[in-house]
Amino acid sequence: MHHFHYRNGRLYAEDVAIDDIVQAVGSPVYIYSTATLTRHFQVFADSLKEFGGLVCFAVKSNGNTAVIRTLARLGAGADVVSGGELMVARAAGVPAERIIFSGVGKTRAEMELALDEGIHQINVESVPELDLLNEVALARGVKAPVALRVNPDVGAGGHAKITTGKKENKFGIDWTAAPAAYRHACSLPGLDVKGVAVHIGSQIADLQPFEDAFLRVRDLVLMLRADGISLSRIDLGGGLGVPYEDGNDIPPPPEYAAIVRSTLGDLGCSISAEPGRLIAGNAGLLVSEVMFIKEGSTRTFAIVDAAMNDLVRPAMYEAFHGIIPVAEPVPGEATIDYDVVGPVCETGDTFAKQRPLPPLKAGDLIAFKTAGAYGATMSSQYNARPLVPEVLVDGNRFAVVRRRPTFEEMRALEQVPEWLA
Ligand code: LLP
Repeated sequence: MHHFHYRNGRLYAEDVAIDDIVQAVGSPVYIYSTATLTRHFQVFADSLKEFGGLVCFAVKSNGNTAVIRTLARLGAGADVVSGGELMVARAAGVPAERIIFSGVGKTRAEMELALDEGIHQINVESVPELDLLNEVALARGVKAPVALRVNPDVGAGGHAKITTGKKENKFGIDWTAAPAAYRHACSLPGLDVKGVAVHIGSQIADLQPFEDAFLRVRDLVLMLRADGISLSRIDLGGGLGVPYEDGNDIPPPPEYAAIVRSTLGDLGCSISAEPGRLIAGNAGLLVSEVMFIKEGSTRTFAIVDAAMNDLVRPAMYEAFHGIIPVAEPVPGEATIDYDVVGPVCETGDTFAKQRPLPPLKAGDLIAFKTAGAYGATMSSQYNARPLVPEVLVDGNRFAVVRRRPTFEEMRALEQVPEWLA
């Protein structure tokens, strides 16, 4: 479900023509739809409402302040994994009491920041991290609200680089070691042990791994209860996928909620979640201009002005992104198989191989779909290419919500030592 459609032969984001945005802002450009962000958040939040927890948007998936503010106004919290993300969430207007701090390696300074801000919960992933947080909290005279992230040892499909819930992954406290870790946590005077957190991976297209993981969480909650440790919160993490290709079958949030209900619904705990991709993925396009069509001996290359530094997912995970022309294709027109590539000097700078597309020529605009999550946030200035600007559309209006930096800004943090002057 999204709000990017053709109208009178032109691709629109809600009620704004994409080519009008490119005219104003240039190419490449990320374009986000407020209506899509809103709808996805609401469908997910409504599905989990009965469990009385928070829906914390995973800021790592899209860290744009305007995007987060859009969600914050709907009641979203934020799942952050660094001091930087925590500051972004606060600046975007997310109240501290709706922020969860996840991640396997928080620094002392980040713990201090989280405690000073008074956030909802810190998810701790190891015993040494429990000890450090205890020390930091005691030094500040506060009790840190914590959940222990457990690793349920459940495989969750998806790409190996984004599977997190197997015991060989670095994440969480080993399932079998969790009871001892809880006993230790409860003995530390600087910690207020509130709950349990789990996150098994990303782009998960099947409910079975969630069910397996949630059943383990259930067992743990009950085992701890019998041991006199009573948890009041469960954090499910994120991970529910989105359709990148037509025909991708992803269970809708109400079906996910049904699994939550059947596995954890009777425990009397509030249940929060940390979706990222599900909210932002289909709410964004990366629009790019065709620079050249190059006829190779065995391939036809469409060389476009976006590159792997702007959208790294195809290079990094062999990820598929749908590609559509911004000018509506003529029905019935024969397609050509293109290798769609960027200008960066690496073979991996390939968005798609042998992709059937309507005939393209230099100057045509194309859009990479499902680029709203892990797109701009994972971009870099590799090849000294400026970060792509981001535009937010809302109905018939649009605004640049991050502008393209100047070359001076890109170099502003560097300096030549005096011995080279
Ligand atoms: N919570 C935690 C603790 C996480 O590590 C993540 C994602 C999320 C929530 C949000 O997961 P989501 O709902 O978006 O699946 N860069 C990769 C995805 C990495 C996901 C990392 N963790 C990609 O582009 O596919």
